[in-house]
Parts: sequence; C-alpha cells; structure tokens
Amino acid sequence: MVLVSGSGSNLQVLHNAEVAGQLGEGKISLVVSDRPDVYALQRAKAYGLAACTEQPDKKLPAGEARRELSGRILRIAKDNGIDIIVLAGFLSILTGELLEQYSGRIINLHPSLLPKFGGEGMYGERVHRAVLQAGETESGCTVHFVDEGTDTGTILLQRKVPVQKDDTPASLAKRVQEQEHIAIVQAVKTLTCNLATKNTTNS
Ligand code: GRF
Repeated sequence: MVLVSGSGSNLQVLHNAEVAGQLGEGKISLVVSDRPDVYALQRAKAYGLAACTEQPDKKLPAGEARRELSGRILRIAKDNGIDIIVLAGFLSILTGELLEQYSGRIINLHPSLLPKFGGEGMYGERVHRAVLQAGETESGCTVHFVDEGTDTGTILLQRKVPVQKDDTPASLAKRVQEQEHIAIVQAVKTLTCNLATKNTTNS
C-alpha cells in the first residue's frame, strides 16, 4: 500500500519497478491519498491501481485527528491484507496502533540526510532551502521506518548528492529526487525480500 499527498513521482517509479519485475513478490495493491485533488491519484488511475482518499478530520484537535486517520488507515490496510506500507510524500503524521501493528513494515521517504533537516514542518522545498542556508556540502535522501516521532525512525538506507555552489532549492531538489527514485525502489525490494524469506521460514 502506498500513501501519497502530492505529485506521486515515487508512486510512478514503484509502479514501473513492479511492472519490470524488480519488486520481487511486491505488488502495489492500494494507493491512499490524504488529499482529494492530487496528481498521484491521477497516476494511480492511469496505472489501473485501486485508490481512495482518506482526509484528516479538520473538526478534531490535531492529536485526535492523527489518531482517527491512523485508525482508518489501519482498518483499510487490514481489510486489504496489506503487508507493507510505503509513505511516498505522505504529509499526514501517523500514530498509535497502526505503527505498532506495522512496526518494521512501514517506511517513509524523506528528502534529506536524516537526522539533519527532519521533523515537523520540514517537507518539500523547505528542506532544501534549510540545507542551502546551513551551508551544507552534501545532501541526499533517507528511507526510514516510521515510529512515533517525525522523521526519527531507524534508517533503512540513505543516498547522497553533492550540494553545488550555485544551487537553488529547486536545483538541489531535482538532484535529490533522482536519488529518491532509486532509494524507494531499493528499500521496497529489501522489505519485500525480507518478508518473503520470513514467510518461507515460518511456513
Ligand atoms: C519526496 O520528496 C519525498 O521525499 C517527500 O515528498 C516528496 C514526494 O514526491 N516526503 P512525489 O509526490 O512522490 O513526487
């Protein structure tokens, strides 16, 4: 299951990888967006993937809204027999039982070398702007397991890029995005292989 909030370029590379047989047993069986009009949903439709929108309830206080949305996503995941959850540009923060039940099977993609430039409010162009402001000489992306913190879970893999003197947030974002597209496929492949091995060992 892939969770999205934006353009869905990572959904696209995962779909392409699946079609090319690069995800092993991995299959995208459902796409969930927390926003209704995002391009990622159009991509899902074009690829023939089942998709739905689950928006946070704006009437609830922030913490409760997170719990309630996480509960809905957990139910959907269970009902659809989902093994692995991939947050590919998903902006809502998840919590509670969902993270417990999918511990080690729920991953997030972040466009910096965590633990640097992560945390609440650090997304999109803001990350790259902060990297440039800090005068970093390298940046990159991180795939990590999701825990109760924001961008704090155990790191599965990172890919680095150089920061160039004349970089703008947009030019740096583009260089990082190329690595994200490789990283997300590598990470999902690793998880699906691990899961397949575990299932074989247990059977
Ligand atoms: C990526 O930069 C990812 O790191 C971040 O959101 C972006 C998603 O891009 N969490 P896309 O929607 O997959 O194109």
